[in-house]
Parts: sequence; structure tokens; C-alpha cells
Amino acid sequence: MSTMLIHGGLVVTPNGKHHADVLIDGERVAALLAPGSAVLGSDLKSTVDAVVDATGKYLIPGGIDAHTHMQMPFGGTQASDTFATGTQAAAWGGTTTIVDFAIQKPGERVLDALQAWHRKADGQCAVDYGFHQILGGVDEDALASLEALVAEGVTSVKLFMAYPGVFYSDDAQILKTMQRNAELGVLTMMHAENGIAIDELVRQALAKGQTDPVHHGLTRPWQFEEEATHRAIRLADVARAPLYVVHVSARQAMARIAEARSSGQNVFGETCPHYLWLSLEEQLGAPGFDGAKWVCSTPLRPRAEGHQDGLWQHLRAGEVTAVATDHCPFCRNQKELGVGDFSKIPNGIGSVEHRIDLIYQGVASGKITAEQWVRVCSTEPARMFGLYPRKGVIAPGSDADIVLYDPKGTTQIGVGKTHHMNMDYSAYEGWEVQGKVDTVISRGSVLVANGVFHGRAGHGKYLQRGHAQNLV
Ligand code: URP
Ligand code: ZN
Ligand code: ZN
Repeated sequence: MSTMLIHGGLVVTPNGKHHADVLIDGERVAALLAPGSAVLGSDLKSTVDAVVDATGKYLIPGGIDAHTHMQMPFGGTQASDTFATGTQAAAWGGTTTIVDFAIQKPGERVLDALQAWHRKADGQCAVDYGFHQILGGVDEDALASLEALVAEGVTSVKLFMAYPGVFYSDDAQILKTMQRNAELGVLTMMHAENGIAIDELVRQALAKGQTDPVHHGLTRPWQFEEEATHRAIRLADVARAPLYVVHVSARQAMARIAEARSSGQNVFGETCPHYLWLSLEEQLGAPGFDGAKWVCSTPLRPRAEGHQDGLWQHLRAGEVTAVATDHCPFCRNQKELGVGDFSKIPNGIGSVEHRIDLIYQGVASGKITAEQWVRVCSTEPARMFGLYPRKGVIAPGSDADIVLYDPKGTTQIGVGKTHHMNMDYSAYEGWEVQGKVDTVISRGSVLVANGVFHGRAGHGKYLQRGHAQNLV
């Protein structure tokens, strides 16, 4: 087992910043030492195997992206990042843990589906990984499998109020799942959009010849997200079940979540970098078919309606639990499945590599603090998904997942720049942002340093997750 000393850095936690030297022994953090004590007060510096100078850098716990879809079959194709390429890109961007979604389709046995996802990921991942389980067909077998899922370390399941005929669950299926989840301590994750009403608007739009990508957003108005979010909250209240609403893009939906939280209900909201920075007018509404790059669900929302500012305000107020990417990349030729019919464009945006940088822009522009950045990108996802304190914190005994982040650096985003995702475009092409991922360490191994990747497929281990640790 080798040892490493990181000295001179500023450790950022959700509660504050402090200078400390970090001693790593093997895969774990061994100690946080008073700044300089290891160097000046003893011969520790000469006895450790590696010394890393972090002067001028933030030391943050490795990023946890709790919502990814590597090689997800969807929309007649498959997300273009494999577990190998997607986790390597994650590492480049300072994310040392992902939680991906195993998918059960209607009629399929849940545990078979989970095993299929294990086979895809096993030996492929550059960073640690866990699984949520999508229930695309809630039946008696699926409900009976929930207990076994917990034993497998899968303590969260995602249901869909959207996509009728694909993943959709009706209110009775949702209620029954929530009731059983409450008994077992399983977290219900919800894709909250009224899919029945959306599909009717989609039919109406296509009948009028409205086929461009922008109509994807116009047929999924905020009211349908708010209504579904509110319904999910009420169902969870009756079931006495914790609820985590994924990829929230409407400020009104996040407001319902904030209200439920302030009334003491265990309701949690996730948003994504694209909902904070991008919009229907500027990206989804790009001329011709270009907007297809930004087709995702929930959709990018009109800036004129105030969603982006509203989400930042909720984030600043501590009402957003996690920022995850919902990484679901598709190349141009895959998006072209929807030329002439926006409803056939595979839904998803890829950004697993850029989440830490993109949310740091909130710090750089004064919208949030560095502490809040760490909270939503690492610590709170760890607590939400049963990984804390192994992950999400730099403390003695925790996994040595540490990112040295240079607040004075800059990062250029785009294909051929910082981009290692398997996509032939970037949703943020040409952006130059403040801050830079400098060094990435996962369980004591350096994955990225000095612009060189030192990781490998298979370094990433499957994480057997426990129950949520942030319930009230
Ligand atoms: O557009 C999206 N979000 N694609 C991934 C599937 C999902 O609903 O999360
Ligand atoms: Zn979803
Ligand atoms: Zn998703």
C-alpha cells in the first residue's frame, strides 16, 4: 500500500473551507494535518511515497454524478458512451463516482435486468459506480424484487410518469411501489412529467406539421412538470415514502419541492447543469435541426419564463439536493432519427465530463458559494444515495477520492478541447469557463494529472449502497 501527502491545499466542505494537508494511506484518507506540519514538523514528507503540491488549489471530495445512462438503449438506439468511455470522461472532469440506471422493461424480471447491467459495467469502469433500478413495468414480480434489490446494494428505484407505452407507470403502480419502498427504506426517484397529456400535444403538433426540435420543448410545458411533481409529492405523502424528483427544469416544480421540504416531508430535488445554463430560445430553438443536440426530457425551458434564475435561487437557498448530469449522449447521426419528426429524436444530453466545471461557474459568478458547489456535486449525493461517509467528504477513513481544483485556471469546452465523451459535438461547444480540474485521485490512485490520464478500465469498483442518510 502506498502513501501520499497532498500539501498546501484549501479543503472545501459544505460547511466551510480550511487549509489542511491530507495524508493518504492506500485507498483511504489517513489524516488531515495542520497546514505545513507534515512538511516542517517531521520527516513525513520524506517518508511518503508521493508528495503532491496543492498550493493555490481547492481540495474537494471527488464528484458524485448520481444520474447517468451509459450505453442506455433508448429511442431506437443506444446512448453513445459505454461504461468505459463515459467513466473515463467522468474522471477527466473530476467525477470519481457515478450512479447509473439499470433498466427493467415491462415483463422483464428485475433481477435479470440488474445482472445485465452488471455485465455491461463489470471490468469497464474507470471510476467507482453504483446502480439505481428503473422499473419500466411495475407488476407483482417487480414489487417482490425490491427486497432483493436492497440486498444487492440498489436502494433507489426510478419510476416514470412520462413515456406511455415505454417506461410509464400509472398512479396505482406508483402508489404501490412507494408503499413497498417505504417499508424497505428504498428511495423512489421520479421522472415527473404528465406523459399522457404530453403525448396528446405531440400528436396535435405533428398533425399541424410542427416537426422541428423546438416543438419537443413546446409540447412539454412547465405546467405538466409542475402537475406531475405535485402529484408525486402527494402520492409519496400518502405512502409515507421519501421522494427524489430527478432532472427538474421548471422553477414551479422546484418550488413545489421546496414547499414540501419546508413542511417537513422527505422530498428532494435534482437539477442538471443544462437546466441552469441553457434555454429553449438559445439552444433547443436553434435554426433547422441543430436544436436536436439539446432535446432531452424534461426539456430546456424558456429563459423568458425565469426557470434558470429560479433554479439558481433554489440552489442558493439549499433547496436543491443534487446537481447530476442525466448524462445520456447521442451522436449527430443518432439524433437524425428525428429529422422530420421531433418525437423520434433520442432524448438526452451528455455532460458527465463538465458538471464540476459548469457548476463552479455558479461560484465564479457569485450565484452560490464554493461550499454549496461541493454540497450539491458530492456531499449531498453521497448522503442521499447511501454512500456517506465513504464518499462525499475528505475525512479520516473516507475513500481518498480527491480533486485538486484550480480556481484561477480556465477550461475550454468542446470536441478536441477538454472533451473525452463519445460524442461528435458538445452541448457547450466553444465555452471557455473559469476554473480547472487539475488532479483527480480515486481511492488513492491518481487518475488525471498534468493533463494526462493515468486511470484504467476496471479500476472502478461496484458500490454496494446503503439507505439514504439525509432523511428528516
Ligand atoms: O432526456 C433524458 N432525460 N434522457 C434520459 C432518460 C431520462 O428520462 O432520464
Ligand atoms: Zn427521466
Ligand atoms: Zn435520466
